Amino acid sequence: MKKWFTMMVLALCALTLTACGGGSGTKSSGDSPTPAQKHEAPAKKDAAPAGKRALVVYFSRADENYNVGYIEKGNTKILAEIIAEATGADTFEIVPAQPYPKEYTPATEIAKKEKNENARPEIVGTMPDVSKYDVIFLGYPIWWGDLPMPCYTFFDKVKLEGKTIAPFCTHEGSGLSGTDRYIADATKAKVTGALEMKGTTAQKNQGEAKKEVMEWLKKLGYVK
Ligand SMILES: Cc1cc2nc3c(=O)[nH]c(=O)nc-3n(C[C@H](O)[C@H](O)[C@H](O)COP(=O)(O)O)c2cc1C
Repeated sequence: MKKWFTMMVLALCALTLTACGGGSGTKSSGDSPTPAQKHEAPAKKDAAPAGKRALVVYFSRADENYNVGYIEKGNTKILAEIIAEATGADTFEIVPAQPYPKEYTPATEIAKKEKNENARPEIVGTMPDVSKYDVIFLGYPIWWGDLPMPCYTFFDKVKLEGKTIAPFCTHEGSGLSGTDRYIADATKAKVTGALEMKGTTAQKNQGEAKKEVMEWLKKLGYVK
């Protein structure tokens, strides 16, 4: 299982190297995850200043994951909580109606099938009223070089056109993988510079994770 994932990550790295400098805005429809984008996109000038109303929306999966074993709190959720605390934001978790398997490999297989089918897995709960917020911090893990498909279910349910979305993601080598553009395409929102971080850093080195989150929030103007 670990070997399988190592091979996937190696393949991702190889894709990254071959794709460097040629990053298109087009979404990959193939089997392999999309090439990594290692650097943050530049912050837009229209990012809201500190003091605006903020909502953190995130998807995160606990249980068994790559390089961290069985975890009680998902890697992305750790970042979501840091952001919510730093900005005073409300939070909304995207929760699939059908939980993913606790074991890592079966979870990757279902996620891959959902991506290939462009599925919209059902999500639970009442969707938030985003009209109340000036900025939405959107957190997710990279799954097969993309956002987990329940995030797209959220985009279909909640009108985000014209809103400001600040994306943050965790991954194990793929980086942002162009997901900031996928979000812009799917929502027609204004997408700011994104934060990308290895899930292992979020899970195992929370001091460093907090430092990187605070630097990102400062750069965007959401904390002083
Ligand atoms: C279904 C699945 C697919 C994944 N695909 C990728 C990938 O394409 N590239 C990558 O770098 N990491 C991939 N990972 C690793 C996760 O992005 C990483 O462990 C992340 O931090 C998990 O965050 P979470 O605990 O908030 O769900 C994948 C993990 C899972 C479970």
